[in-house]
Amino acid sequence: MVVVRSSIFAHQLFVKMSRNYYIDRAMASYKKPRIRDGAVRRFLFVVCLTLVGVLLLFFLVGMNMNSISSNEIDNSAIEFSFNTSGLIKSIKLPKHNHLSKMLENRNQLPPRNMDLYPVLAKDRIVIVLYVHNRPQYLKVVVDSLSRVSGINETLLIVSHDGYFEEMNKIVEGIKFCQVKQIFAPFSPHLFPNSFPGVSPNDCKDKDNPILKNCEGSTDQYGNHRSPKIVSLKHHWWWMMNTVWDGLKETTGHSGDILFIEEDHFIFPNAYENLKILTELKPKKCPDCYAANLAPSNVKSRGENWDSLIAERMGNIGYTFNRTVWRKIHRKASEFCFFDDYNWDITMWVTVYPSFGGAVYSLRGPRASAVHFGKCGLHQGQGENTACVDNGMVNINTEEIDKVVNIKPEWGVHVMSNQDGYQAGFRGWGGWGDKRDHQLCLDFAQMYLVRSKTS
Ligand SMILES: *[C@@H]1O[C@H](CO)[C@@H](O)[C@H](O)[C@H]1NC(C)=O
Ligand SMILES: *[C@@H]1O[C@H](CO)[C@@H](O)[C@H](O)[C@H]1NC(C)=O
Ligand SMILES: *[C@@H]1O[C@H](CO)[C@@H](O)[C@H](O)[C@H]1NC(C)=O
Repeated sequence: MVVVRSSIFAHQLFVKMSRNYYIDRAMASYKKPRIRDGAVRRFLFVVCLTLVGVLLLFFLVGMNMNSISSNEIDNSAIEFSFNTSGLIKSIKLPKHNHLSKMLENRNQLPPRNMDLYPVLAKDRIVIVLYVHNRPQYLKVVVDSLSRVSGINETLLIVSHDGYFEEMNKIVEGIKFCQVKQIFAPFSPHLFPNSFPGVSPNDCKDKDNPILKNCEGSTDQYGNHRSPKIVSLKHHWWWMMNTVWDGLKETTGHSGDILFIEEDHFIFPNAYENLKILTELKPKKCPDCYAANLAPSNVKSRGENWDSLIAERMGNIGYTFNRTVWRKIHRKASEFCFFDDYNWDITMWVTVYPSFGGAVYSLRGPRASAVHFGKCGLHQGQGENTACVDNGMVNINTEEIDKVVNIKPEWGVHVMSNQDGYQAGFRGWGGWGDKRDHQLCLDFAQMYLVRSKTS
């Protein structure tokens, strides 16, 4: 009975959240828990119950789990090689339409500005900017990137969810570094009347597939898929697989890759700071899998201490290398079957906890990137939060944000026991359709060629 109540409750929340999903994506992890106190207590109670159950289960099967995880050492690199010249035919990806095929071909084009920047630095950190359709935000981000020192030594990849001329124009105007555009060819936004978009025969809301003779399987709260809602998780996963395993420009890249979104303002010192952080990371913080440009609390600009900080993985400017990607990729089925439409919550609840130990990210004490929201929505006029309206941003770049402000001799302050989503959480739903699960699994396989020797 308790479980039933919680799913109805969570469903209401899901509906509420999905309404302003695009407006407010990056604040997701902070907004969601902001609900009435009574509701929170009820919900937490259910979560605790679930947690206890899961722990018990883990305890009971503990022996078996141990023997599995010790065998699971890095062998994926030996078993597989990658085909970057095209997709593997044996996987049943959705049928292309004219636009998706055109974009897939376009993804093979070499980067622009190779004439201006013919040589990339050996130790470059590749930058991936993933975007949907907010041109006035993208302008701000691109403008901030143009002032980042060191960016001219690296490659910027812009990954698009959907095809929008206004977005293209902004990217085509970039002259400050090599830039490559890629488009998720199976974005729901490119398929107006078939999967991964909406097909005429799709079930809606809480339709019963048998009574209505429609297609679709529901999430844990009884709701059918919404293409707009699932598109972000699909894009993120497609992009990850593509930039690590599917592009000529990056499959040989042995360093780190930095990931940013269309509403992240990047300070001029971000790249140089990040280079120091990624170099210090293995030495100073063995439990750090990544480096971050900003605190995991998106409202914070940092503590301004004289120390580095290790904390839970944040989603502004996270940066990691191929070793970590291989670990993530090995958890493809956990990622793809977890019933939550948020890629970041999916990672926090299923992927990171499965690494078997603390998972931290290293950052400086002062943010080198900041998420800007819509003015007013988060009372965004305070001194610490930034806000943008019609392309006008009130983000102050101070002198200290223009130069390297991290000292290699600093110690590391570890923030343990932080709040947040953990293993055991059942997910917010929105990701229950078997076709989405399959597409997600296919994205994980599409560049993999099982070598004949294994
Ligand atoms: C790689 O993809 C291309 C294009 O789809 C295909 O012609 C080729 O056979 C593939 N190579 C392997 C090893 O699967
Ligand atoms: C990159 O920009 C710096 C100045 O910001 C300049 O000194 C350097 O020569 C440029 N490098 C390339 C490859 O354009
Ligand atoms: C990748 O990052 C991890 C975590 O910081 C580190 O342990 C590992 O040595 C790095 N791998 C390479 C090839 O640099």
